[in-house]
Amino acid sequence: MPIDAARILARCDALARHSEQPDGVTRVFLSPEQHAVSELVLRWMGEAGMDTHVDAIGNVVGRYEGERPGLACIMLGSHLDTVRDAGKYDGILGVIGAIECVADLHVRNVRLPFAVEVVGFADEEGVRFSSTLLGSRAVAGTFDAKALDQQDVNGIAMRDALLQRGFDPQRIGDAARHEGDVLAYVEFHIEQGPVLEAEGLPVGVVTAINGGNRFGIEISGMAGHAGTVPMALRRDAYAAAAECALAVERIARDLPEVVGTVGRVEVQPGAINVIPGKVRFSLDTRAPTDALRADAVQRMRAEFEAIAARRDVSLNVTPLWDARTTPCSTGLQRQIAEAIHAEGVRVHHLPSGAGHDGMAMCAIAPVGMLFLRCRHGISHNPAEAVSVEDVATGTQVLARFIERFTAPHRA
Ligand code: HGY
Ligand code: MN
Ligand code: MN
Repeated sequence: MPIDAARILARCDALARHSEQPDGVTRVFLSPEQHAVSELVLRWMGEAGMDTHVDAIGNVVGRYEGERPGLACIMLGSHLDTVRDAGKYDGILGVIGAIECVADLHVRNVRLPFAVEVVGFADEEGVRFSSTLLGSRAVAGTFDAKALDQQDVNGIAMRDALLQRGFDPQRIGDAARHEGDVLAYVEFHIEQGPVLEAEGLPVGVVTAINGGNRFGIEISGMAGHAGTVPMALRRDAYAAAAECALAVERIARDLPEVVGTVGRVEVQPGAINVIPGKVRFSLDTRAPTDALRADAVQRMRAEFEAIAARRDVSLNVTPLWDARTTPCSTGLQRQIAEAIHAEGVRVHHLPSGAGHDGMAMCAIAPVGMLFLRCRHGISHNPAEAVSVEDVATGTQVLARFIERFTAPHRA
């Protein structure tokens, strides 16, 4: 049973049917849909010859023993949660593709000088609780217990959502792996950008995962009657937020390879004939170096202050996430490149503009990533698409990498 790319795509389709929305894919942390997907993935892991369990935060874990039980492992995987109105492959493909590689080892009864673990992280996108990397942070032992108090849009705290699903918030530390347990963490993931397509390549080697900052920003002005308050007397919270969003766009455009996004806006009271009194919006900004990212954040925050002063509105900025750029292990880059070359594909190295679980896993293991071309670079969008031929090539590269893997030195 060689690598079966059609089965990988069929399984991605099967998981996409578990969504909180009937006409698209939205699957958030600790949701019923997430539970259903975990059950399916656990079954496929078992069929691939893995021992399986669900860890203390809801990650699903499969383990395929090496030449003898209890060996340190190479950990493969990605996340099983999605953004709102997502595609079918962001995260998912990395878990299903890794399971396919283990199934291939199992059917050939191949045992390696290390164990192979596959993990499906329960939350990477951070959609439900304005967090991110919750599952991989728990595995890396860096989960921040303060996140347990964060609430979702229905006012449910993460702590209570965990209890509702049968998890003990006090035991999340049980998911943590110890230094030495994990020889390397390697993630197979769609590129979510246009570079591989432009290069005419199915796969690429990731050099680093760009760092990022996320903020929750609240602007308070004065609600008022839309028909009676003259424009010069208004303290319109939404107009101020809109000016901030345009400042984000201008500053990011002016700095090389910096990106800035205002992805979520809540306007209160949200009535057609009321001047907005309060606005909450999000900011996500990324850069290829930590210095550039710090410069972008400083400029954006200074501009927000100036806008608030000029418009006589109050401003409250809450940091939600601050992640350094994560370099990928040079040893793993070399081994992934060798596996690509062995498949007869030209080797191309590229950075990741998107964040990934390797940003957390680097705390306990060297990190590597193998990117797969996605159509027109589209992602975080139902139009996300891959070809069965690329999935076959990418999974074959991953399988070859696993079989030739040697533990790299920790930088
Ligand atoms: O936001 C990101 O870069 C990732 O998709 N979580
Ligand atoms: Mn994503
Ligand atoms: Mn992802």
